[in-house]
Amino acid sequence: MNPILVALDVPTADDARALASTLGDAVGGLKIGSQLFTSAGPSIVREMVGAGHKVFLDLKFHDIPNTVAGAVAAATDLGVWMLNVHASGGAPMLIAARDAAAERAAARRQPKPLVIAVTVLTSLDAGTLRSVGVSRAPLDQVVHLATLARDCGLDGVVASPQETAAIRQACGNDFVIVTPGIRGGAAAIGVATASKTPRADDQNRTLTPAEAMRAGSSYLVVGRPITAARDPRAAAQAITAELTTSP
Ligand code: C5P
Repeated sequence: MNPILVALDVPTADDARALASTLGDAVGGLKIGSQLFTSAGPSIVREMVGAGHKVFLDLKFHDIPNTVAGAVAAATDLGVWMLNVHASGGAPMLIAARDAAAERAAARRQPKPLVIAVTVLTSLDAGTLRSVGVSRAPLDQVVHLATLARDCGLDGVVASPQETAAIRQACGNDFVIVTPGIRGGAAAIGVATASKTPRADDQNRTLTPAEAMRAGSSYLVVGRPITAARDPRAAAQAITAELTTSP
């Protein structure tokens, strides 16, 4: 499948519909995060799944195991292809999430969604981590939590481009790694033609699409380089072309 997952970080269901229909099959899937979900609710997820899109529901569940299990079961009912939880919720929560997805999918006779973990938010640096009681260096904490997620039977993690190689090495080839923070290379085309200047600079650790795939990513989350481009479909196609032609 095309590894590009476009981040539908838009305020309304109408914006999401317009973008999804413009992009069509130029991307592999759609990421619906807390902004769109909070404004448009589960019906936009159902609609996108019903239209045949693979949906990554990026709500980063983090709660007691029973509550997370209920949320994961509800997301499975929506038919999402991938969803995520915070690895720092701990092993009982991760196992509850894994089991809820598997059990609900089996009961509905549908494919199990991929359940992946957020390790350390890329907005947290060493100082912020220390302030919440984590003394490990950020990369060590990322690899520690990725290994915990793998040991609990999760399918993969979300990771910044700079973390991908270390996680791939620690967690093996079958582990799914989803990478945001994609800039430059073909992803620069959309930014260069953007209808409004995207705040590309709020991603301070970035790789080009081809570099991220070479580092071991399974899927790339691309937002504004596609969504803010004058021609989002052409921007997505340029990134796909770069991935197919780069060694
Ligand atoms: O527009 P841009 O390409 O920066 O969008 C990246 C997407 O990936 C956004 O939806 C953002 O919330 C998400 N994300 C991220 N960094 C993380 C985790 C998720 O940028 N560490």
